[in-house]
Amino acid sequence: MDTAGRDHSFISETYWLVLNRAPSALELRDQTAGSLNSDQPSLRYGLLDSDEFRRLRAAWRDGIRTESDSHALEAALVALGSDEYFVKRAYESILARWPDESGGRHYASVLAAGERRTNVVRALATSGEFDEKRLAVPCDVQLCELANPAKWQNDEWLDLLRSLGLSADRLLMHRKPYEFTQMLYGCKRLGMLREDASFISIGAGHEQVLYWLANHVGRVVATDMYEGTWQGELAKEGDPVVLDDPDKYAPFPYRRDHLEFMKMDGRQLDFPDGTFDVSYSLSSIEHFGGFEGACRTMREMARVLKPGGVLALATEYVLSGPPHEETFQPDEIHALVRESGLELVEPIDEHVYRRYQTRPVNVRLTPYLSPHMLVEMDGTVFTSVMVFLRKPAART
Ligand SMILES: C[S@@+](CC[C@H](N)C(=O)[O-])C[C@H]1O[C@@H](n2cnc3c(N)ncnc32)[C@H](O)[C@@H]1O
Repeated sequence: MDTAGRDHSFISETYWLVLNRAPSALELRDQTAGSLNSDQPSLRYGLLDSDEFRRLRAAWRDGIRTESDSHALEAALVALGSDEYFVKRAYESILARWPDESGGRHYASVLAAGERRTNVVRALATSGEFDEKRLAVPCDVQLCELANPAKWQNDEWLDLLRSLGLSADRLLMHRKPYEFTQMLYGCKRLGMLREDASFISIGAGHEQVLYWLANHVGRVVATDMYEGTWQGELAKEGDPVVLDDPDKYAPFPYRRDHLEFMKMDGRQLDFPDGTFDVSYSLSSIEHFGGFEGACRTMREMARVLKPGGVLALATEYVLSGPPHEETFQPDEIHALVRESGLELVEPIDEHVYRRYQTRPVNVRLTPYLSPHMLVEMDGTVFTSVMVFLRKPAART
């Protein structure tokens, strides 16, 4: 394929074919300046990889109209040139190849029969071939790991993140949305997101994941002390109002009869053994009275699980520096896992930050800075660790 330099018309055509719009003056200037990438394929990769294209494709798949003026869009696509040229450029821009003989013939005949070019572009963008190509791009699928920036390149994971109403913007990368999304992603991959599944969250506050689960699984029980210091924190995670008014924190409409909030100590769960399919806790057990309190909670979370059930935990993992209250050293994390008596579904990848260069956010000086994956407090650098454990299935 010709990778000669770009000119304005090549850039403009690619924007119309992929994003169904003209490039802005700034985009055109950047793309022609060559300061981003000067070859033609990298323009296409950039547009196909953009959040804008992802959103358009999702909408096209759902049959949702994305353009404000259909006539203007069709006219712009018609202005690109002859049918043959249009089909060639559409294939090149979206499927990264020239049309094969039968594909070229097919689209030439449908266009001759009056089909709109808008629909041809969308058919290519939502085709099985495009999906196959995307799926063939390697992506990170680990479950047990430190908060991992690689997940912001996994489409399935990003879809879950967006479905929580959170931004997929890499500049807003934060370990809190990581925990929410990774919990759902792990449960999905482990086959636990089922209409007949029951979930319990420990130290739940009013995390938005609860409301998401209420729309996707049979029963969700949120437990928390809902008292003490957490009522006064900025985010008011432990606000007891949610016990009587769950709608107050609902980020989107949810199935109210699938979600209940209960005041309960995570170290002593008031449920019989084997009640739930999933017990999970996000950024909480480090606040339950040190290592001892966390151990008691792990035992309780394991106890209330049915055989074959899954325990998912996110907590604080120290990467360097002195011990700090409400964080755990790596050996303590392993001890907590052992304390549950359950099996890790896979080894924990503790080497994530040997692969990434990033600056820890100083939570005392700049708590709201993002990206926010590593944090530093009084010389201790820590991040979130996520683990998934399985309770052995009952013997028959
Ligand atoms: C950092 S917040 C996390 C809340 C929620 N999981 C989230 O991710 O937004 C910690 C929560 O633990 C709760 N908590 C503290 N001690 C607890 C205990 N012994 N049992 C249950 N919840 C407790 C607090 O009330 C607070 O809501």
